[in-house]
Amino acid sequence: MSSHNGHDNRFLAKMRGIMEQESSKRIVPNTRIILGITGGIAAYKAAELARLLIKQGVEVQVVMTEAACHFITPTTMQGLSGKPVYTDQWDASVPNSMAHINLSRAADAIVIAPASGDFIAKLAHGLADDLLSTLCLARACPLIIAPAMNREMWLNAATQRNIAQLRADGVQILGPDSGIQACGEEGMGRMLEAQQLAQDIMVFFQPGLLSGKKILVTAGPTYEAIDAVRGITNRSSGKMGYAITQAALEQGAEVVLVSGPTALVKPHGAQGVNVESAAQMLDAVKRHVAGCDIFIGVAAVADYRVAQPSAQKIKKSANTLTLELLPNPDILAYVASLPKPPYCVGFAAESENLADYAEQKRRAKKLPLLVGNLAQQAIGSDDNELVLFDDGGSHALPRADKLTLARQLMQHIAQRITGEQR
Ligand code: C5P
Repeated sequence: MSSHNGHDNRFLAKMRGIMEQESSKRIVPNTRIILGITGGIAAYKAAELARLLIKQGVEVQVVMTEAACHFITPTTMQGLSGKPVYTDQWDASVPNSMAHINLSRAADAIVIAPASGDFIAKLAHGLADDLLSTLCLARACPLIIAPAMNREMWLNAATQRNIAQLRADGVQILGPDSGIQACGEEGMGRMLEAQQLAQDIMVFFQPGLLSGKKILVTAGPTYEAIDAVRGITNRSSGKMGYAITQAALEQGAEVVLVSGPTALVKPHGAQGVNVESAAQMLDAVKRHVAGCDIFIGVAAVADYRVAQPSAQKIKKSANTLTLELLPNPDILAYVASLPKPPYCVGFAAESENLADYAEQKRRAKKLPLLVGNLAQQAIGSDDNELVLFDDGGSHALPRADKLTLARQLMQHIAQRITGEQR
């Protein structure tokens, strides 16, 4: 079988258009990954993984084993990656008949997802009886594998021996996870979700600007109860704080994410603490702030709470209802005024006069860095535009998606921190 050619030109042209737009956000320029797919039901997740990597600006070359083609078609992978998929060691269209050497020399890493029990055994023993195993043996780049198999296959002494051997050989092993398996059994052996794999792979390519640093992030809104079923909250989605958590993890930091109620999934690898009210958020921050190098207060903390929330639902008994509100503690100001505070970063969403208000707020709360944004653009949306204010003046980060901005912000913070430590 040669590289797979069955395709619809219009579909591929459209896919390339989308990929070109998305790759303008690339953070690891020119990274080239061989995505190897082996035979397992989790092969369907490889399609999403390819899409997510391409979205990050990675160039993905797919290589599939024959068994993988029983689970997902090369056409799907060609459509998503925009490149012919290699499936055969004896591909006559490769001029020097050395696809294994050509491909592995052109790659920055090989990622095998899913890696079946059989393929892991081959890797552990250095077998090379198809294109993918041959190019792994011939590689001159890192190898990352995402095991996926039935729990008994994973627990089998042979598999465990093979995994230990691969670890000793320097192979990066991502997962597996435990949970319900395709066979209906429950246990260890599920492949990590594509989102988690993409995140771990991106971490692998980052310079680790924040490795060894402990970062505490607050995110999302707070919810201040009025009674058993009602409360005061705001429209913060938590997207910026979660993006910052992910960007910090990518740079090797250890992150505790204290989050108010959101609909978001905690980035893989962060320690999550879920809270509702500002008082609970402050308690959680107090519990985790010791030993922190950086505190980033992204949460939209309610300024006031109800003085006496009712334990029962308040009945509609009068025409008007007056609630007494008390001011909430300022969590960021509390952290910034600790005897040995971490490097504190605040966020200010203003609806006008951003520069003046933001700089005033930075001085009032004694913050080394304050990130300003226009509330009407920021809240709930996927994109934003930031201005960073610190002792060096202001620095604008032009409109982009929140993850891109979070990555730029973390690079800025990493530079500031290293500068201060010198
Ligand atoms: O004063 P203002 O609410 O605009 O300040 C916003 C910044 O202060 C954000 O970083 C927010 O997380 C933090 N903050 C806080 N506790 C409060 C109010 C705001 O940590 N009670």
